[in-house]
Amino acid sequence: MVAKRTKEITPFLVMDVLERARAMEREGVDVIHLEVGEPDFDTPQCVKDAACRAITEGHTHYTHSLGNLELREAICRHYFKTYNVSVSPDQIVITSGTSPAMLLIFSALLEKGDQVIISDPRYACYPNFIRFAQGVPVTVPVYEEDGFQYRPEEIERKITKKTRAILINSPSNPTGNLLSESRMRAIAELPPYVVSDEIYHGLVYEGKEHSILEFTDNAFVLNGFSKLYAMTGLRLGYLIAPQPFIRPIQKMQQNFFISANSVVQIAGIAALEQTGEDVARMKSMYDERRKYMVGRLKELGFGITVEPTGAFYVFANAKHASNDSYKLAFDVLEKAHVGVTPGIDFGSNGEGYLRFSYANSLENIIEGLNRIKDYLDNL
Ligand SMILES: Cc1ncc(COP(=O)(O)O)c(C=O)c1O
Repeated sequence: MVAKRTKEITPFLVMDVLERARAMEREGVDVIHLEVGEPDFDTPQCVKDAACRAITEGHTHYTHSLGNLELREAICRHYFKTYNVSVSPDQIVITSGTSPAMLLIFSALLEKGDQVIISDPRYACYPNFIRFAQGVPVTVPVYEEDGFQYRPEEIERKITKKTRAILINSPSNPTGNLLSESRMRAIAELPPYVVSDEIYHGLVYEGKEHSILEFTDNAFVLNGFSKLYAMTGLRLGYLIAPQPFIRPIQKMQQNFFISANSVVQIAGIAALEQTGEDVARMKSMYDERRKYMVGRLKELGFGITVEPTGAFYVFANAKHASNDSYKLAFDVLEKAHVGVTPGIDFGSNGEGYLRFSYANSLENIIEGLNRIKDYLDNL
């Protein structure tokens, strides 16, 4: 018998769309991918060079379980420079992506039955991490007219004696929106810990993102190199935690993972310190695509009440086409040959929406949206 805990894990629906799209491609169909949450850009050359050099120079052994000290120091400098917050290298644990960091944080934080507040919609994997650590996700709906920002007073109403943490993600997947400074501050002042997933930081086209550490130390930061530096496959991330949690997390890291990949950690230093021009180039291209995509989706009748200003997603109201986002996404794939992600993947409040990713070339985005126009004209 397979263990019960595995049965509680829900599938990641975007992967269902992607797998069907790949099967169609194997049959010769040309599919435009607007479903994937992965940069289309190549990893910056200086990062690749640093990784190659690290191998040649023999940096191929286990590192300190908390991670390469030089990388942790570079992360501290990054947080100081970007947000004016002081973090100590011994508050940081380097992991193989943000995902394992999430597993470590919730494992260190939750007793059986402890609650974590998450928004609806939110990144599809959050509830699974929480449940796996025997916690209970408690959802707070967020609304299109608010740009899908949390209403702190609605969070407050859901807080119980069992609430251990409030999970925030700004800029957000799937909505591409930022949490305003005032709402973030209000959330930081609530009693539970805040777990802040800052993986899309740096990919902000209007306004400014804030780290939770600007407002409270009663917080955990999740961050990683996948998105901003186009390093998804290299698997590098980190967590920043209050000091009392570090030793317990370190013991889990030592037992379960030993350390993150040594070569990639050295490449991470180059990402933080040498990619200024690469990041600026990628950002300006994302921004150009964002503007085009938002304008065109609106023309096609999709509802976008508050324009997204971060990450690389547009979460568009598709109720004019269908209220069943899963069926709609597969119909668009089968008939228009465009991959899109059903809103239901991100929670029941995401039903009726589709997530479009602009991590694809402008040329492909134009072609994909032309195909969707033809699809809608024939409905
Ligand atoms: C909001 C959010 N958090 C975390 C992750 C996981 O990223 P990583 O590649 O660092 O594990 C993703 C990936 O899509 C994401 O969108």
